[in-house]
Amino acid sequence: MKHAADFLVLGSGIAGLYFALRASEHGSVVVLTKKQRAESNTNYAQGGISAAIGPDDSPQSHLEDTLRAGAGLCHRDAVELMVNRAPQVIEELERIGVEFTRRDSTLDLGREGGHSRNRIVHARDATGRAIERALLDAIAQRPSVRIVENALAVELMTEHHLRRSASEQPTCFGVYALTDAGRIEQFFARATLLATGGCGQVYAHTTNPPIATGDGIAMAYRAGAAIANMEFIQFHPTALYEPDRTGPAFLISEAVRGAGAVLRNTTGERFMLRYDERAELAPRDIVARAIDHELKTRGDRYVWLDLRHLDESSVRERFPTIVAACADRGIRLPHDMIPVVPAAHYCCGGVLTDLDARTTIRRLYACGEVACTGVHGANRLASNSLLEGVVFAQQAIEAILADPPPPIGSEFEKIPPWDDSGTQNADEWVLVSHDREELQAVMWDYVGIVRSTLRLQRALRRIELLRDEIEDFYRRTKLTAELIELRNLTTVAWLIARSAMHRKESRGLHTMSDYPDTDDRHWRCDTVIIADRIECRPVR
Ligand code: FAD
Ligand code: SIN
Repeated sequence: MKHAADFLVLGSGIAGLYFALRASEHGSVVVLTKKQRAESNTNYAQGGISAAIGPDDSPQSHLEDTLRAGAGLCHRDAVELMVNRAPQVIEELERIGVEFTRRDSTLDLGREGGHSRNRIVHARDATGRAIERALLDAIAQRPSVRIVENALAVELMTEHHLRRSASEQPTCFGVYALTDAGRIEQFFARATLLATGGCGQVYAHTTNPPIATGDGIAMAYRAGAAIANMEFIQFHPTALYEPDRTGPAFLISEAVRGAGAVLRNTTGERFMLRYDERAELAPRDIVARAIDHELKTRGDRYVWLDLRHLDESSVRERFPTIVAACADRGIRLPHDMIPVVPAAHYCCGGVLTDLDARTTIRRLYACGEVACTGVHGANRLASNSLLEGVVFAQQAIEAILADPPPPIGSEFEKIPPWDDSGTQNADEWVLVSHDREELQAVMWDYVGIVRSTLRLQRALRRIELLRDEIEDFYRRTKLTAELIELRNLTTVAWLIARSAMHRKESRGLHTMSDYPDTDDRHWRCDTVIIADRIECRPVR
């Protein structure tokens, strides 16, 4: 079955929905989303969205904090664009209907690690849910937007599918997607936006929900797009420690440390003061590494987050979601300490874009966590990602309107339907679940917070073996969502491990025990992978 629209959006988190809302004023929009419409990383965002709006704050200070966290790899022009736009973004989100927390009619500004000012605008501790709901409500009023749930994008349609050899810069005509009907359908568009979010599920322990399987990065890579900086995976320092839990780890927002909570090891020592003078409010890479070090040297499984000195009514008022989740587990806040561990949280790399969210594939744009816009460098500053999603969605729509892509042409007739002849229903599903767990364990053990050449070599050997086996199975089997995601996870795991192996230094989120120093002379560059080429490109 074939469908067509002016704009095709893959993903219904903040980036995809904001773009869809804006695009709906200019043409027909189809949004494909692989589960229910609200299911996204956005929906679980807690802390908030950063913007320099306090009386003591300025975009310049937000810029400096972002550049400092990014450890020399942020693209200054991208950061300038984002921090200057941030106050307007907050106003616009409020106009759309997001109810941010206010105190005496002014926005309440929280604090998070790496920020030198209070600048985190929030809806208590469920900011993402408030944003997701407001965007979905606004879109429901737009008849030109059609959201298709349970539609999993499988492959971008490019020249390759016209049986023409792709030029240096391929063109995207839309996607093949597995729909509710159990078949693969074609969705054509003049412009396609990748807003498929991150890839936390590649690790055994993550704060990300099950949708975060890196599909957009894997699809774009297979279509020939440039992928950048995949070695920079952010581990959030404080996920709730629950050894028997199988799903995503519950996050204890950094805003809790921003409100004064401190970290203690199992002897009760406030250890962060030994690692950084900013203590619990040092950037995330520093706090996560410090916790990892405490756990490894002491043989402990968790550290404590201590809120006992904080005012009970303030904690309950500011963090109702966290208080309730802890209560469900028998932890009474603020009286009990919370056991916490780091967990994979955010992908700073992704599909390489320019300042207008253009990828290296014509008519394909990317924004949100799937993209590498240059904003985060080697480490994302807390609460900069919801902001980035909106700013670069704005950039994408403005760029498309300024230079509109041609109408859908002969590709609509010529690109053939998905060909699954010769494939069979699989009877070996145990392979899929086993391979996913094996991949997640390899990534956690060998490509985690602290890496080494030996561990990365081991990881790459195992990932490549899994990749070859999965590819073979994929070719012979009728596709299911689980198999498509497993293939994408393996591709993303390979991109992360390969990029990590390439960078022979320690910087930001990438710590190599055998290359402990930062080496600006050789490595102040983005790691860019296109097909089987890997190179180091100077930052803009
Ligand atoms: P997402 O919100 O993840 O949306 C991706 C969408 O794509 C989903 O709808 C998904 O179903 C869909 N999708 C994926 N693959 C496919 C496919 N193949 N086909 C069709 N659809 C697909 N950042 C902040 O700035 N502040 C915070 O306070 C904050 N807190 C966080 C708390 C948690 C627990 C987590 C996990 C993240 C947090 N982050 C926070 C990070 C932030 O939430 C994300 O980076 C951001 O929401 C990403 O938005 P997005 O639109 O790019 O992707
Ligand atoms: C948090 O609330 O700690 C998450 C903030 C973020 O990921 O930016």
